Amino acid sequence: MKVRKAVILAAGLGTRMLPVTKVVPKEMLPVVDTPAIQLVAQEAAESGIEEIIFVISPGKTSLIDHFAPAPELERALEEREKRELLDLVQSVRNLARINAVEQHQPLGLGHAVLQAKNAVGNEPFVVMLPDDIFDCKPPLLRQLLDVAEENDSPAIALLHVALSDVSKYGIVAANKLSAYRYRITGMVEKPAPQHAPSQLAIMGRYVLSPEIFDLLQHAKPGVGGEIQLTDVLLGLAQRRALYGYEIACPRYDLGDRAGFVLAQVAYALKRPELADSLRPRLRELLSS
Ligand code: UTP
Repeated sequence: MKVRKAVILAAGLGTRMLPVTKVVPKEMLPVVDTPAIQLVAQEAAESGIEEIIFVISPGKTSLIDHFAPAPELERALEEREKRELLDLVQSVRNLARINAVEQHQPLGLGHAVLQAKNAVGNEPFVVMLPDDIFDCKPPLLRQLLDVAEENDSPAIALLHVALSDVSKYGIVAANKLSAYRYRITGMVEKPAPQHAPSQLAIMGRYVLSPEIFDLLQHAKPGVGGEIQLTDVLLGLAQRRALYGYEIACPRYDLGDRAGFVLAQVAYALKRPELADSLRPRLRELLSS
């Protein structure tokens, strides 16, 4: 399967990050100086994706503006001979073809994916949740696409989590095929530790086939009227094979305050120009 399109879901309320998300979309919050949505769009582009479809809520146009040309800013940078900054700004709008669809009410991940049905059409595609970032080389999406392509089947990313954390995630039942590779046989949404079929949690990267749209259209809303993606994935696993790929690189959950702060520190320390001044100050803070 050749996958060309990525659907990035960004129509949620971001309540866990209030008050900043009252006006600023959660996906626009930066990791050091780069909005989370850009990091995820870069991951898609570096993985070979040609078109990105953002699912946004009606007010969140800043997400699209970020990927649009900015003629005045670009002219000003050119006049001031800020070549590096100009390249930086221009590279954002050249990442991929950008498209957007609206989700009028945040009725869950499944409902959000369904809004992209016409934009995706009848071809395999990926879904990415921009509040999870993964510091992987090659990019996590590329690794996941390799698994999907090898098997010519949908595949989802899995993270081994602590038993005490299984109740926060969708957890899979799976047969291990080889290192990091699984065939998924079942799924439970937010199980109690004693009922978890494994400690492998579903993370925000999915390679899907277009038949998921039929399943979503016929899905019954669950808790809070939301259409859950997990329920429908189980249907996909039953109809045809669904593979799992275990993530072996650091993950940062930007939708959670502690994860957000940790990502700032980790990504800043990856930059030599910041790391040199930050290290002694962080040591000082830790020892005080
Ligand atoms: P989350 O459930 O983490 O995001 O969804 P949220 O609902 O915005 O956050 P909290 O829990 O209220 O703080 C993961 C991703 O899916 C998108 C969100 O924008 C986020 O990027 N999403 C979620 C949608 O696009 N539509 C939805 O109905 C729900």
